[in-house]
Amino acid sequence: MKDTPDELLDRWGLTILSMVADTGHARIWKVETADTVAALKVYRRADRGNEGPGSRLLSAWQDRGTVRILEEANNAVLMEWLDGPSLGDVARDGDPETAVNLLAEAASDLHRSPRVENSGLRTLNDVFAPLFRCEFTDTCDPNLKSDMQQSAALARELLDSQQTLVPLHGDLHTDNVILTKAGPKVIDAKGYLGDPAFELANALRHPKGMPDLVRDPIQIAKCLQLYSEAMAITPERLAKWAAAKCALSIYWRSHQQVSEDKEADLLRLFLQAAA
Ligand SMILES: Nc1ncnc2c1ncn2[C@@H]1O[C@H](COP(=O)(O)OP(=O)(O)O)[C@@H](O)[C@H]1O
Ligand SMILES: [Mg+2]
Repeated sequence: MKDTPDELLDRWGLTILSMVADTGHARIWKVETADTVAALKVYRRADRGNEGPGSRLLSAWQDRGTVRILEEANNAVLMEWLDGPSLGDVARDGDPETAVNLLAEAASDLHRSPRVENSGLRTLNDVFAPLFRCEFTDTCDPNLKSDMQQSAALARELLDSQQTLVPLHGDLHTDNVILTKAGPKVIDAKGYLGDPAFELANALRHPKGMPDLVRDPIQIAKCLQLYSEAMAITPERLAKWAAAKCALSIYWRSHQQVSEDKEADLLRLFLQAAA
C-alpha cells in the first residue's frame, strides 16, 4: 500500500517547509515535526525501489556516522534533517581532495568491527544478475560492446571469488554523504550483502558534474589507493568492481539494449586500471 505525501504528513504530524529534491525515483521535503526539523523522502514505488533494507542498515550503523531514521512506511522514510553541504558539493566548490578523503574515512567508520547483523540484505549476485542478460543494438559501438562483455566477465569472476560477505551501503559516494558540524553523515543506503571491495566502486564515478576529474588517470589511481586502504582490500579488485558497476549502470540506463553511453569512455578507463 502506497501512502500519499498528505497521508504521511498527517500521520507523522509534519508541516512542509520546502521541497529539497525531486530525483528519478523519490521526492525529498524539509519538514517540521512537533519538536524538530526533518527530511521526508517519498519514493515513487510502493516498495521504495528495494531501498527498505537500506534504512534498516543505516539504523544498525547509527553510532558510525549515519543519518538517524525517525519513521518508516512502505514508500517513505522520515529522517533527521542534516545541515551542511554534501561531499559532492565540497568537491564541486573546489576541494575534491577533502571530499574524497572524508568519504574514505566515512567508509572505514561504517565498516569497523564488529560487523552488524545482515538479514534481509540483497546479495551482489542478485544485483548484478541483469548484467549477464545484457543485449546490444545492431548499431552498438563495437568497442562499447566488447568492454561491456569484458566487464560482465569480470563481474562473474568477482562474484564467484567473494571471500567474505559483509553488509554494504551499496551506493556510497560523495553525493550520499552530508558534511554536518558533527562530521560526515551517510544517507541513501541500498543495503546489499557482499564483497567489501564493492563498497566504494561506485564512488569512482563521482562526484556528479565533474566528468574531467573523474576521468583523470591520476585521480583514478589516487582514489583506487585511498579507497582500497579504507576498505582493507586490493586496488586491483576495486578497479574490477568499478568497471563492473559502471557497466551495470550503463545497462540500467539502456532500456534493455545497449547502443551508446556517456560513460563508455569511463568504462574503458576502469578496464585499463583493472588490467
Ligand atoms: N536527511 C537529510 N537532510 C538534509 N538533506 C537531505 C537529507 N536526505 C536527503 N537530502 C537531500 O536530498 C538529496 C537527495 O537525497 P537522496 O536520499 O540521496 O536521494 P536519491 O535516492 O534520489 O539519490 C541529497 O543529496 C540531499 O541534498
Ligand atoms: Mg542519493
